[in-house]
Amino acid sequence: MVDLSTRIGALELKNPLIAASGTYGYGPEFSRFADVSAYGAISVKGLSLNPKVGNPMPRIVETPAGMLNAIGLENVGIEVFAAEKMGFLRNLGETKVIANFFGNTVEEYGLCAKKLSEIEGVHALEMNISCPNVKAGGIAFGTDPVLAGEVVGEARKNTALPLIVKLSPNVTDIKVMARAVETAGADAISLINTLTGMAVDLDRRKPALGNVTGGLSGPAIKPVALKMVWETLNAVKLPVIGLGGIMNGRDALEFLCLGAKAVQIGTANFVSPVTASAVLAEMENYLGAQGCESLSEFIGTFKV
Ligand SMILES: Cc1cc2nc3c(=O)[nH]c(=O)nc-3n(C[C@H](O)[C@H](O)[C@H](O)COP(=O)(O)O)c2cc1C
Repeated sequence: MVDLSTRIGALELKNPLIAASGTYGYGPEFSRFADVSAYGAISVKGLSLNPKVGNPMPRIVETPAGMLNAIGLENVGIEVFAAEKMGFLRNLGETKVIANFFGNTVEEYGLCAKKLSEIEGVHALEMNISCPNVKAGGIAFGTDPVLAGEVVGEARKNTALPLIVKLSPNVTDIKVMARAVETAGADAISLINTLTGMAVDLDRRKPALGNVTGGLSGPAIKPVALKMVWETLNAVKLPVIGLGGIMNGRDALEFLCLGAKAVQIGTANFVSPVTASAVLAEMENYLGAQGCESLSEFIGTFKV
């Protein structure tokens, strides 16, 4: 038996696997098919102050080695989440609950952080800053270091919970964004969110997605994710959570050996709802064969 426990600042996890936001619902959606408590933590579907209906269909399209989605951040809103979704999540034993959230203004991010921190059973917050700032002409918070710093600072003022900031890969230099959110008070960084992309339905000569453009995820983005995680690890002192294209135990271990304290699994949940259990078994076998008694002695052992 290999000790797979890990720690992201103050957040202790029984294992390093986190269900990536938007790919695991609020948990119950997967409970008919899989042991949801296999995960060390679940990052729930991105929440906003009020419920959101999302984009027109089709919202998902398969692409070579990945998928594009344009869900449009559909969610039940924080109030319904607290009243109807937390009951299930509070009963997952040691599996921690991470509330992923977003807003359209700096103030909305602050209010979300405050309201989510008041919900019993939420262990950490994850800010999705890949959203447009409606008061700044729609420029995404996560692509401008000044806006990113401002919005993270506002959330920081409104929560005492561990604050994970999820970075967008749609930037020229990820190091600049990582440093900006570290300075603004983030406790940890997760990356990467989806890369913007588009698919064409040639025979109809129309966009394949109702929203025209969407976010690319899955194995196609893993090399981009590894590079950005590596650059971030070298740019900041904060704990880093790696994600993007993890499909199996070896993929997860690649991010962990770079120095990530934990990893998230997204698109792979759509391929197989029991991915987490399979990844854990593979990781344990690999680490055991390498003579490791714990994951912590493996994390950060990558050498250039
Ligand atoms: C259908 C779908 C919905 C998503 N919704 C969210 C979301 O609400 N909030 C968020 O921060 N990321 C969201 N993401 C991004 C994922 O959490 C993750 O960052 C991305 O898919 C890369 O990981 P993967 O390659 O393992 O899927 C979503 C991804 C997909 C595929």
